[in-house]
Amino acid sequence: MTQPIPVAELHRRFPRDFVWGVATSAFQIEGAAQADGKGASIWDDFCRVPGAIADGSNGDIACDHYHRLDADLDLIASLGVSAYRFSISWPRVQPLGSGAPNAAGLAFYERLVDGLLARNIQPYATLYHWDLPAELQRRDGGWLARDTAYRFADYARIVAQRLGDRIVSFATHNEPWVSAVLGYERGVFAPGVKDRRVAYQASHHLLLSHALAMQAIRHTHSKADVGIVLNMSPVYPATDSVPDTRQARLEDGRLIRWYTDALLKGSYPADILDDLGADVPQVQPGDAALIAQPCDFLGINYYHPTVSSSANPTAPASNGAAVTDMGWEVAPNSLAELLLRLQRDYKLPPVYITENGAAYRDDVVEGQVEDELRRQYIESHLAAVADAIRSGVGVKGYFVWSLMDNFEWAEGYRKRFGIVHVDYQTLRRTPKKSALWYRSLLRASA
Ligand code: FCB
Repeated sequence: MTQPIPVAELHRRFPRDFVWGVATSAFQIEGAAQADGKGASIWDDFCRVPGAIADGSNGDIACDHYHRLDADLDLIASLGVSAYRFSISWPRVQPLGSGAPNAAGLAFYERLVDGLLARNIQPYATLYHWDLPAELQRRDGGWLARDTAYRFADYARIVAQRLGDRIVSFATHNEPWVSAVLGYERGVFAPGVKDRRVAYQASHHLLLSHALAMQAIRHTHSKADVGIVLNMSPVYPATDSVPDTRQARLEDGRLIRWYTDALLKGSYPADILDDLGADVPQVQPGDAALIAQPCDFLGINYYHPTVSSSANPTAPASNGAAVTDMGWEVAPNSLAELLLRLQRDYKLPPVYITENGAAYRDDVVEGQVEDELRRQYIESHLAAVADAIRSGVGVKGYFVWSLMDNFEWAEGYRKRFGIVHVDYQTLRRTPKKSALWYRSLLRASA
């Protein structure tokens, strides 16, 4: 077993103004799926598809955060974090994805933001964490339609006009690769489409919508930073054989360069365009420049490396490696390598680790949850981030995924990522040992 790093020593490895946070997303915690005029999202629909969610569950109640807002804000404050990353549900704000805003929906997020500020916690909002208004999917095919990008910019403007004076940071999208590829190519996430051509067209419209939303927000009085959050699972070839190396390069292009090249270099990578052949997306003149307009920050969600071979192009672990309850390899070094590689290949804006954390099975025993493996996971990844900072990468903050156990998408409630345990019978919250450790780290003076 590795020796724990004393919290004061670990804390000292970070700059004084480093942002320490926890993260959640709307669909995963809020519940109240039909309350106060909220419209259905594609995830509400997808959960009704037989077999789509491993435990047959849905987001109707989730952690019931919508009805427990004040107590949850106190919980967040009790951790001593300086920032909270949450997402705003588009169909709560615009039930059908366009038109007049739903006053009760906006009022909820206003209470959330004001409640954070009252507790001295900075609000980091994500505008799209996968819960597209179902109406836009049913009517137009969702992100397949270019029009959806314009609808998204309208929604972003509505939110920024109301809350942009208090929100510190807006991320337009969380993990557009997941929205496009898991949602429209593999069909394992909402809306469950399986068509590569549709997926790549969707990915282009997601990026376009990011750019249009950034413009819309910047045209309001909002002073918030605006950027995007990408999932990055650095790809390693399983062996150094030519087919495995080639496969790994392709997966790297699909997963990482497709997004980072478009956003930071102004073009899609040529090898991926070649590989797509007839499935290349339609791009209109001016789109590329729009998409490459400067972001104020880049959010990176990191969980595990990808091990790629021609037989298994996207394995989440190498043979024999230690894995979490998701089967994802625990590999903090690959986070440090990823950050250095991005720094080498791109001109990076300030970087935030917007998600990092681990699912493990947890039990509450006499009111306590001993989750030493999760604590070690977070500690070792923080050490990797500190190494990258020492090597000159401008990482400004770190958010644990997640504040509390929640609806883990196609896995339902069976995978627990929280540093706070949620009993789904009683909805009682119990901070795990990892939460107590995180609090002690944040309190440790530099
Ligand atoms: C990320 C998602 C987040 C959560 C973690 C485990 O891809 O952004 O909502 O499900 O994975």
